[in-house]
Amino acid sequence: MTNSRIAAVDVGNDSLKANFGKMESELYIPNVIARDVEDRPVIGIEELDEKDPIDNIHIRVHSPALKENNAIYRVGNLATKAHNSTELDPGSGKSEEDQTLVMLFASLALDAVSNEVGTKSNKNKQNMIDANYTLGTGLPLREVKEGKDVGYRSQLLGSVHQVEFLVTPRYQGKKVNIKFDEVKVYPEGFAAFINLVMDNDLNIINKDLIDRQILIQDIGGLSTDIAVIRNRNVDDDKAQGFNLGVAESLEAIREEIYTKHGVELDSRRDVVDIITRNNDRHHIMVKGSRTSVHDITDRILLELAKKQYRHLRNVWQRNSQSEICYFVGGGSAVLKDYLKSLNNNLDGFNIEFFEDSGESIWMMANAYYKLISDFIAKSEKAEKKEEQKVSSSK
Ligand SMILES: Nc1ncnc2c1ncn2[C@@H]1O[C@H](COP(=O)(O)OP(=O)(O)OP(=O)(O)O)[C@@H](O)[C@H]1O
Ligand SMILES: [Mg+2]
Repeated sequence: MTNSRIAAVDVGNDSLKANFGKMESELYIPNVIARDVEDRPVIGIEELDEKDPIDNIHIRVHSPALKENNAIYRVGNLATKAHNSTELDPGSGKSEEDQTLVMLFASLALDAVSNEVGTKSNKNKQNMIDANYTLGTGLPLREVKEGKDVGYRSQLLGSVHQVEFLVTPRYQGKKVNIKFDEVKVYPEGFAAFINLVMDNDLNIINKDLIDRQILIQDIGGLSTDIAVIRNRNVDDDKAQGFNLGVAESLEAIREEIYTKHGVELDSRRDVVDIITRNNDRHHIMVKGSRTSVHDITDRILLELAKKQYRHLRNVWQRNSQSEICYFVGGGSAVLKDYLKSLNNNLDGFNIEFFEDSGESIWMMANAYYKLISDFIAKSEKAEKKEEQKVSSSK
């Protein structure tokens, strides 16, 4: 595994988060892709080179794992601007969508070209890069429960996947051959638990928590998962998933601000900023005047928080011996104040949030990193022992 680079990738319905190598680089890419039927016209190279590659991911993907092989895609911010872009349908299975693989391969290829992972020797032809990865990733509990992780893993391991950069600044014409030396697919709820109780070397950092029964409510862009952890393990039968995230509410706020104030916000991200920033929270500028949108944000977010709270209550009822519930995911950052105040007025459950919204959002990607690094460390140790045995028996 000497030339293998670590990749820990969380393909979220809303965005992909990835950690690479020794954690020296990371990627955050909105989970949006658009099929290109024809090649895009090539833009003047000078104009192109000033742009950031990550905002202009334009690729052809060749892989036997895909249902549509050799298709051309715009990925991330570039796809947002296309009229035919697709976001993941919350009802569909992550493990069975080409979109999941396209996002995954795009992120690895970007990492490879930006680091020239391939050392000089395996950069055979100038524009070809061979990149070997040891991958830690995850699937929703529901899919792992159905055994989908097995097929997902083997199709990744089984072949070489090629990403060719088309009209992307700096990387135009480069081809990356991605090969996996090892792939680990973890259930999402379990990963969150690991991140809570262990540090990067998998030392236990939270002794109090490790043998307790705890709940983890992960509120994402399009979906919410509640995991029940008991005996240091996810209780498969108790886990619950809902097709309810925070994206719809953010979109509703954006629309209402437009109708009421005539102000068009660029994206859901802008809405998040208005709700969570420290200064001028819940305010926008309208024709140069500072204007409150608190009535709009409060009503819509409270509505969603109530729905989320109902789910928590149901799960807690069926797992009455739970001691604490941790709220993770980007949605938890957005709903934090509302959920806390609901809880104060209602059941008074023992619930906990993360101070830093980044921690919430990167929870899975960081957990996969811990798990895959630990896996590598253990297998290297085992290899060394094997070598010692062989040499001492000589
Ligand atoms: N820094 C931030 N603070 C608060 N909210 C954010 C922040 N960044 C993103 N969000 C919002 O959180 C939501 C996404 O959360 P998250 O990244 O956890 O979802 P996901 O994991 O991609 O989706 P899912 O869990 O449904 O698969 C988005 O709607 C986004 O707008
Ligand atoms: Mg998520």
